[in-house]
Amino acid sequence: MAVTILAIESSCDDTSAAVIRDGIILSNLIAGQDIHMSYGGVVPELASRAHQANIVPVVDQALRRAGVGAEEIDAVAFTRGPGLLGSLLVGTSFAKGFALAGNIPLIDVNHLQAHVLVHFILEKDGKNKVPGFPFLCLLVSGGHTRLIVMKSHLEMEIIGNTIDDAAGEAFDKCGKLMDLPYPAGPMIDRLASQGNRKAFSFAKPKVKDLDFSFSGLKTSFLYFLRDKLRDDPQFIEKYKPDLCASLQDTIVSMLISKLVKASQLTGIKEIGIAGGVSANSGLRKGLAREAEKRDWNLFIPPLSYTTDNAAMIGITGYYKYLRGEFTGQDAAPQARY
Ligand code: KG4
Ligand code: ZN
Repeated sequence: MAVTILAIESSCDDTSAAVIRDGIILSNLIAGQDIHMSYGGVVPELASRAHQANIVPVVDQALRRAGVGAEEIDAVAFTRGPGLLGSLLVGTSFAKGFALAGNIPLIDVNHLQAHVLVHFILEKDGKNKVPGFPFLCLLVSGGHTRLIVMKSHLEMEIIGNTIDDAAGEAFDKCGKLMDLPYPAGPMIDRLASQGNRKAFSFAKPKVKDLDFSFSGLKTSFLYFLRDKLRDDPQFIEKYKPDLCASLQDTIVSMLISKLVKASQLTGIKEIGIAGGVSANSGLRKGLAREAEKRDWNLFIPPLSYTTDNAAMIGITGYYKYLRGEFTGQDAAPQARY
């Protein structure tokens, strides 16, 4: 019998709902929150209020687009954490209410595990291929930078981690220094396409094994700008594309070099990226070159699956459903999970 899951994601500033049947995505709706842009970061209180306003219409639309009635849903999957507590609470409470009303099971999902599982979502046309195991995935988001080995759909081992900032934070914090609106990653990516990536160079920290560090880059970028602005107050305005291209190139090469090292150490050639920063065009192009050179089977998610979305919660929920891994009405959201 087919398994149909309603999935809810509300860990940060996107309210998303998806319907997935037997691993095939039927709908995936995302309502973003522009309200945070002028604050230079996500304001938790505003985020949870916006989730409250968005959750019912987003779920309603997800069901309509999927052509699925509420009574056809077999289980509700929701993001339990990590994330902003007030935001998680909205999705968790909604999921509990829906499950209670339909007398169906609840499935709690780890947001980070879900980011990696996007590679296993099946499209309706049946044309997309999925990775084999073991699968090596670089998870790069606003909060995390991790190298993960997946041994099966639900078995993961973290083999590398950032020791300070995440790669997305490096994009966002350096963007803020250039007065770019939050989150700066997408705009740096766009401006970088018009700049010279070899215009400036920034120090890359040496971090042991498969770990990463990005806080030094932010500091070196800050001092670099401060020195240049002293001589020319218009420096940022004049060289923004070159600054963005050089910064992006530095971050991307730090990410790729560790991924290459991880592949060499583990012998794994089934390789993918996931998380918000996996939308970065420099990273995508750089990896495509590496894949060709190193004979990797490379998995780059569609753009709609790079940022936070409920489709990834749905596919994780599906595999947990198959294993009978359910949770109770007492499941509390967890900011750190
Ligand atoms: O995974 P995500 O949507 O949220 C979590 O952190 O969980 O990732 C958001 C991060 C932000 O730091 C944003 O600046 C970054 O992803 N990002 C990008 C791009 N698109 C989003 N960074 C670089 N280039 C992009 N095209
Ligand atoms: Zn995320």
